[in-house]
Amino acid sequence: MTNATSYADAYGAWMRDPEAWWAEEAKGITWTRQPDKIFDKSMGAFGQWFAGGMMNTCYNCLDRHVEAGRGEQAALIYDSPMAGTVKTFSYSDLLDQTAHLAGALANLGVTKGDRVVIYMPMVPEAAIAMLAVARLGAIHSVVFGGFAAAELSTRIADAKPKVIVSASCGLEPGRVVKYKPLLDAAIALSPHKPDACLILQRPQAQAPLTPGRDHDYAEAVGAAAPRACVPVLATDPLYVLYTSGTTGRPKGVVRDNGGHAVVLWNSMKMIYGLDAGDVWWTASDVGWVVGHSYIVYAPLLRGCTSVMYEGKPVGTPDAGAFWRVIAQHKVKVLFTAPTAMRAIKQIDPEGKLTREHDLSSLEALYLAGERCDPPTGIWATELLGKPVVDHWWQTETGWPITAGFRQFGLFPFKPGSGGRPCPGYDLHALDDDGNVLPSGTTGNLSLRLPLPPGCGPTLWQNDEGYRTSYLSDFPGWYRSGDAGSVDADGDVWVMGRTDDIINVAGHRLSTGSMEEVLASHKDVAECAVIGAKDELKGQTPIGLVVLKAGANRVEAEVCAELVALVRERIGPVAAFKDARVVARLPKTRSGKILRASIRRIADGENAPVPPTIEDPTALDELRAVLGG
Ligand code: COA
Ligand code: AMP
Repeated sequence: MTNATSYADAYGAWMRDPEAWWAEEAKGITWTRQPDKIFDKSMGAFGQWFAGGMMNTCYNCLDRHVEAGRGEQAALIYDSPMAGTVKTFSYSDLLDQTAHLAGALANLGVTKGDRVVIYMPMVPEAAIAMLAVARLGAIHSVVFGGFAAAELSTRIADAKPKVIVSASCGLEPGRVVKYKPLLDAAIALSPHKPDACLILQRPQAQAPLTPGRDHDYAEAVGAAAPRACVPVLATDPLYVLYTSGTTGRPKGVVRDNGGHAVVLWNSMKMIYGLDAGDVWWTASDVGWVVGHSYIVYAPLLRGCTSVMYEGKPVGTPDAGAFWRVIAQHKVKVLFTAPTAMRAIKQIDPEGKLTREHDLSSLEALYLAGERCDPPTGIWATELLGKPVVDHWWQTETGWPITAGFRQFGLFPFKPGSGGRPCPGYDLHALDDDGNVLPSGTTGNLSLRLPLPPGCGPTLWQNDEGYRTSYLSDFPGWYRSGDAGSVDADGDVWVMGRTDDIINVAGHRLSTGSMEEVLASHKDVAECAVIGAKDELKGQTPIGLVVLKAGANRVEAEVCAELVALVRERIGPVAAFKDARVVARLPKTRSGKILRASIRRIADGENAPVPPTIEDPTALDELRAVLGG
């Protein structure tokens, strides 16, 4: 691991010799065969890291810590105000349960390279399932529990899993979300059917099992012999994680084993300043990339204790829930989304509830998932008296692109900035022709190829889709899809997406997929969905629809049907609650809907009249509907 003492030294060392830098970092991982090449540019869309090397990610997360004599140390603390449970798993416990689940999956025919879909709430078995799949050299694909059956079905159809691991239910405030009907509907909708399903029965709702297909998780694990780790190539996939793209079809971001383990192991120390034995908490969900990397893999690779929290920042039971968890488990660093801080701030603006808990263990707060708005960053810094670090990344990269680095001492706090590029990323803002822009000028934030280890090397069975989505606009660069700038100090300012992806409560969603749902309603002639500013969630979707001539419907009824339809097709996580009927949508003379103008009006901003607009009065009509 790097012994650089400053950010400038570390970044400079990486810049001078990237392969030497990553060869050094790779020493943190236990390999069964050393890589033949640190970087092989002949492989994949832009090259692949650690070609020829063999290892197992689960071994690096669990077995090696137990073999090193740290089996009794806590690996995972499951804290669920929803279920009223706190349970600690030592590294030995977690290894034992993982090896047995790997045995159960192997008994169902799962072998190296097979896919296993995991559709689970925030229970320890979700993390155990990910690790068990990795143990067998198979490939997991976790689907967030807030997605509806149709979204789950799309992912099943694309990943073609041999087995699905699920649970009887998830727990949301005030309701038990039954997973089994959603799973059954998703399998019925998918052209691909899994051979088997393993169902974890939770006491809050028992699920009827489908004979011949479903197996009880506890029984299957109880009857299975433990399985050893299967070594895989560093370049073999560890998982596929579907994320919103610009079309209705989600993108299956592939993560490989070797590079992922190397960068995550390194990031725990370099970025977050933690090492083996330290307690770390990521308040997110295993269904998102943040949960994959920082609830499960990174802390376990490093030998830390990871807190897994099934609850909300507010209401479970109050806005002091986060402070209670920090105090109870002596959390050193918390990682969450700014929206969680905004939720707490809304209810307890003076932070009175912090005084009821001993927060002396906390050393820093890291935020990601969306830009941290300066008022929230300043509020959290003043309240906690600890550094608050915003850092920017994406499902595609799997680890931060920009950050503050506790190993080197944090940069001066600049509210609204996402920090500086991590060693591994050569980041610039480009103009639309691909020219590097001077510092301080906003453009397309892009990364010079090759991307560092850990970044998705391709999309699942879709190399061409990867190239057209990210690499073809600016040859030699990866286009992030975010707009922003790099200032004279090297600090990066990420200001928003350049496509139709929106960020609702830190959840990445595609307005295009919501438009597809609205357009499928029998009375809708055309529609547009935009992300409008929201005090709590950062953005919230608003759908504008034009009804078919002669639809002759009560507008409020159609709107209610549209809200229900998005919830049914995409899921509650879309948080789509606002549909409005308009007489027409503002368009260019060539018929393109002016979404940017609609968004500005919804945000109450001054929307200049675009020169290409067909009829400027359409904007005035919209102002009347949106109240802007
Ligand atoms: N399973 C089923 N439903 C789920 C779900 C899950 N795993 N997760 C969320 N939902 C539902 C919620 O119950 C809610 O349903 P409702 O419309 O019936 O109220 C809906 O999806 C929207 O959820 P959410 O956007 O999370 O809103 P919320 O009002 O429940 O909570 C916050 C708001 C800010 C408290 C919450 O979003 C939060 O804690 N965010 C943290 C951000 C985060 O973890 N980001 C991940 C990336 S770092
Ligand atoms: P996801 O793939 O779900 O992690 O979402 C990635 C997107 O979220 C990025 O492309 C950004 O648009 C946004 N994002 C994540 N973290 C930040 C951040 N710290 N600052 C600004 N935007 C962010």
